[in-house]
Amino acid sequence: MRLSRYFLPVLKETPAEAQIVSHRYMLRAGMIKQASAGIYSWLPMGFKVLRKIEDIIHEEQIRAGHIPLLMPTIQSADLWRESGRYDDYGQEMLRITDRHDRDLLFSPTAEELITDIFRSHVGSYKDLPLTLYQIQWKFRDEIRPRFGVMRGREFYMKDGYNFDLTKEAALHAYNRHLVSYLRTYERMGLQAIPMRADSGPIGGDDTHEFLVLAETGESEVFYDSAITDLKFGDRQIDYDSVEQCQAVLEEFTSRYARTDETHDEALFNEIPEDRRRVARGIEVGQIFYFGTKYSEPMGATVVDADGNRVPVHMGSHGIGVSRLLGAIIEASHDDKGIIWPEGVTPFHCGLVNLKQGDEAADTACQAIYASLTAIGLEPLYDDTAERAGAKFATMDLIGLPWRITVGPRGLKNGVVELTSRRTGASEELPPEHAIARIAAIYGKASA
Ligand SMILES: Nc1ncnc2c1ncn2[C@@H]1O[C@H](COP(=O)(O)OP(=O)(O)O)[C@@H](O)[C@H]1O
Ligand SMILES: [Mg+2]
Repeated sequence: MRLSRYFLPVLKETPAEAQIVSHRYMLRAGMIKQASAGIYSWLPMGFKVLRKIEDIIHEEQIRAGHIPLLMPTIQSADLWRESGRYDDYGQEMLRITDRHDRDLLFSPTAEELITDIFRSHVGSYKDLPLTLYQIQWKFRDEIRPRFGVMRGREFYMKDGYNFDLTKEAALHAYNRHLVSYLRTYERMGLQAIPMRADSGPIGGDDTHEFLVLAETGESEVFYDSAITDLKFGDRQIDYDSVEQCQAVLEEFTSRYARTDETHDEALFNEIPEDRRRVARGIEVGQIFYFGTKYSEPMGATVVDADGNRVPVHMGSHGIGVSRLLGAIIEASHDDKGIIWPEGVTPFHCGLVNLKQGDEAADTACQAIYASLTAIGLEPLYDDTAERAGAKFATMDLIGLPWRITVGPRGLKNGVVELTSRRTGASEELPPEHAIARIAAIYGKASA
């Protein structure tokens, strides 16, 4: 993409309404624009990052054996009356009436609809296990939408639902989700710690929230610092193996890590004092086993091996897709702007022409641009007539992890400059070497 042809409405001024750094940078970098309270338009660069995050989530869910589908945002109130949640949900549910006076709603989550799909089409234990998921817009009429995409009213969410014959099988599905979530967040350059969460008034159910540590997080968290040394890495996992998934769960949840809702001071004080941490975190996902809570009232049953009709065991598992943009920026930025992890960056690198109109510089930039594109990379080429300082400031703000800078002086010596956004370190090298380095970073074979 050439910057001169792109739509990147960068703001010079810091927007007054933005209280936290991710919100400020998303507005300044022209990623989002508020449409009304808690509702945003996704401008091209914000949309690009959203898609990258979505792609990673799909890849990891499919790897775990989960199946994507898509359900509507507008749903019938009748289904929600069956589970009893139409009345329970309260003010956060956006209720809509159509021209025939039928009650509809904008889905805040989709347990009812997925359970209806299941009961209509699945009748035998032989069709289990089954996990279906979607990535779809949700609406919750939050009383205080704030912090940009962090707490929106309209937000993008991955919601998955498992259907299993027994509690044991459903807990394996739970563990599978935990593993797939660890992989997902790490690919986005995030450390998200599974913390025991509150399962609400009913209790007894299993649930973990995934939290990214950040000062601006809305949750207070208490944990054993040893947990931050854990890394999933690139280990291979067989998602069908009950033992392997269980072992990962045990490894990642055996240390103390809880939010304020489940915090237990006595247990916390058993941790050696130098490892006790009290901090804040951003909830980027949650996994939940709730048994037959929906299958029983809604009649989602299967015939088991003995010919008995039994309600299925279910769980639901969410990832805050749009919130993740904010969480990633909170975890990765400096005072000049965003620093995108390679896994989610909107463009693989920036290409800055220091002297647009200079024949040697223009030709070199075109050649570098063509080479990067040919190996499947997407550079953002600043081919505008701006001053060098302004070009650098924009590149730093939008946070592409690598920048190639091309100028007439360097070209005389046969070199361009390769700069890491994260460390600020620059290196002069021939253009082909710079291209090869970027190709290697992104795992592409250079031509
Ligand atoms: N208002 C919101 N704006 C942005 N993301 C949200 C919002 N509410 C929830 N999410 C994200 O969706 C994920 C799944 O939602 P859920 O656990 O049902 O939400 P909550 O814990 O707020 O009830 C959460 O972990 C969070 O990352
Ligand atoms: Mg939650």
